[in-house]
Amino acid sequence: MHTIVTVDGPSGVGKGTLAQLLCDYTGFHFLDSGAIYRTLAYGVIAKNIDLANMPELVNLAESLPVIFESGRVLFDGKDITTAIRNEEVAAMASKVAAIPEVRAALLQRQKDFAQAPGLVADGRDMGTIVFPKAHAKLFLKASAEVRAERRVNQLKNQGVTVNIAQITRDIMERDERDQNRSVSPLVPAQDAFIIDTSDLNIDQVFEKAKEFLQKRGI
Ligand code: DC
Repeated sequence: MHTIVTVDGPSGVGKGTLAQLLCDYTGFHFLDSGAIYRTLAYGVIAKNIDLANMPELVNLAESLPVIFESGRVLFDGKDITTAIRNEEVAAMASKVAAIPEVRAALLQRQKDFAQAPGLVADGRDMGTIVFPKAHAKLFLKASAEVRAERRVNQLKNQGVTVNIAQITRDIMERDERDQNRSVSPLVPAQDAFIIDTSDLNIDQVFEKAKEFLQKRGI
């Protein structure tokens, strides 16, 4: 088995940034599993698929024409890197991710990312379901308010004006769905190292994560 590092936690907690830093540090491949759910959500919206239409939904999940290439996400050859980051897609991703058949259809595709020399996998259930035997499991957490503030700053930098109260509500609604769904709910693996990032900057989070990896011989 290849060396696997999992980074799980709710949205806006800094998983993506940490996972990228850990990829640079280890030289491992990167799996952004949220981008897979977001791409499926993009396809559902683009093709106007009814969430109750299970055969069509599962068919799209199984045949999802997604390619990750040098940090870009391509759907049927179309560059959707930016499009999958909007709130509409995020809300739909959280809905499709709660459907057990969808998660089952996407499981093997995620496992296939484990290739030499190793993998850093970012998501919600990387350490619990997709890679339960991972060598080092990290779980990041932070209050909904802190995460909303980070999201608002991120959007501001992109020139988008947003309402912080609305963003906080959206985040809490998604957390609620992600934590309480019947399959693969967002919970830390028993052997996960938990980092509360509320009062830490990314360098401090990276240092803690790196120390943990070193303890695990990575
Ligand atoms: O990490 P993200 O915000 O890009 O994830 C988008 C949605 O996909 C989010 O609502 C949770 C869901 N997701 C999931 O259920 N399991 C994963 N491994 C990754 C993401």
